[in-house]
Amino acid sequence: MRFVDLGPLEGPTLFFGGPYGNLQALLRLRQIAEELRLPPERVVCTGDVVAYCAQPEETVNAIRAWGIPVLAGNVEQQLAAGRDDCGCNFAPDTTCDVLSRRWYAYCRAALSPESLAWMAALPVGLRFEAGGRRIGVVHGAYSAVAAYVFRSTPWSWKRRELELAGCEVIVAGHCGVPFLHAEGGRLWANAGVIGIPANEGIPRVWYLLLVPLPGGGLRASLHPYAFDHARAAALMESAGLPRQYADTLRTGLWDNCDILPVAETCARGHPLDFPPVELPPPERP
Ligand SMILES: [Fe+2]
Repeated sequence: MRFVDLGPLEGPTLFFGGPYGNLQALLRLRQIAEELRLPPERVVCTGDVVAYCAQPEETVNAIRAWGIPVLAGNVEQQLAAGRDDCGCNFAPDTTCDVLSRRWYAYCRAALSPESLAWMAALPVGLRFEAGGRRIGVVHGAYSAVAAYVFRSTPWSWKRRELELAGCEVIVAGHCGVPFLHAEGGRLWANAGVIGIPANEGIPRVWYLLLVPLPGGGLRASLHPYAFDHARAAALMESAGLPRQYADTLRTGLWDNCDILPVAETCARGHPLDFPPVELPPPERP
């Protein structure tokens, strides 16, 4: 696996996932990062820059112009390798599987050779240190780029991934639902995605902040924001992309819960709320 080590990072760092070709959501997040005075090297995208929405090439160009670290999601890996499907691990013939053939073909046709070459060169993971903690950033999971890891995924599975990665914190994306899950001084943080709302019934999306604490330790918090979802949805309809995902941008609700475990399916339509999580400084021997 190609991991890039960023070394120690000082100050707050913002993470976000899945722009999905949603230029409006990406540009609004860049404004937020600038309002927070975060330099590009302290903003990280967990991958899937293109997918459901209407402006894949424009979104790639905008994220490259921003100059932030970006991971290869499964969509970048599949596109760069010239494969015929998105690699999202959708069950055969589910709605997501059928509709993905349309948006994936749209992305393939829209992307320039330069954008595909950029995707091919992206790392699959990042490591850095902050607040005395080792942090790994991956797309789905450490051991599999397209693994769906939810809040309801057992901690024993997450702990094993943290051990494999050699980290106290993993930041991931891919599954589309943000969460914070901390146990025993370790943390799995899903930064969510910004291209499609999180199935709350609210047309908004989420990002993650990790803030080193004075004296050591880290504070993790998730934050929602709104963007011009009406324009993003209208562009999808003009492009002939699946109507279901344009509706999701407007309603904040997913068309189906094919990929979700029971707990996350039952949470459909309920506003998300995340108390911040603080990790203490590591114990010194
Ligand atoms: Fe993904």
